[in-house]
Amino acid sequence: MLRQRSRAAEWMDDPEAEGFDAALDGLARINRLSLAARPVLAFLDQVAARHPGTPLRVLDVGAGGGDMLVRIAEWGRARGVTLELTGLDLSPWSARHAAARGVPARWITADLFDVEEQHDVVLCSLFAHHLDDATLVRFLRWLEARARLGWLISDLHRHWLPWGFVWAAVRLLRMSPMVVHDSTVSIARGFTRADWQMALAGAGVAAQIRWAFPFRWQVAALR
Ligand SMILES: C[S@@+](CC[C@H](N)C(=O)[O-])C[C@H]1O[C@@H](n2cnc3c(N)ncnc32)[C@H](O)[C@@H]1O
Repeated sequence: MLRQRSRAAEWMDDPEAEGFDAALDGLARINRLSLAARPVLAFLDQVAARHPGTPLRVLDVGAGGGDMLVRIAEWGRARGVTLELTGLDLSPWSARHAAARGVPARWITADLFDVEEQHDVVLCSLFAHHLDDATLVRFLRWLEARARLGWLISDLHRHWLPWGFVWAAVRLLRMSPMVVHDSTVSIARGFTRADWQMALAGAGVAAQIRWAFPFRWQVAALR
């Protein structure tokens, strides 16, 4: 069933979908429970260690409700790293959600491929699985062109174990209908190491592929 990446649609693929706002709250909860910020902050530690004293312009692609940017802002304060944060998301719900919660970032509401500005670090979490294989290759090249010091993709491992775990968890936690629907579809649209090797080869891009606990792949390039 999960041998190949699914092409099934997620409700969240519709940027104007009803229930988007509640789903962003649910995602923030899932991110906390699944330790989503850990690999992202560890990557920023690596960037900061390579470029000590350098202020960082950081772009979060498919930023959703902005909870990752909140964690990154906390990281910057704790590490004494000056940050200029930007959230980018296709959905207008995302900008509204981030503004209502005081996320300390500039916001861009657009398709990522329409955005040409460069940043020191470009990252995304739980975003890449929204792309089909051909668009993923295009995204890898886009990251290479937009990120001056490094980029990071953190996304889901496609496997029956996280699929079953998530199926049960979103029901037990009484998540919103959109989260319940999209959670297992997201895993079916997720990746194996071989998928990442193939996408990187297709894009002609060099990057490290690492496992991140629990059930995630971290694909990263550092300059
Ligand atoms: C599953 S959510 C992840 C949100 C957030 N990163 C998180 O971890 O909670 C994926 C987000 O990607 C956004 N998105 C999908 N396609 C996009 C595109 N082409 N350009 C920018 N954002 C996009 C969606 O609107 C959605 O908010």
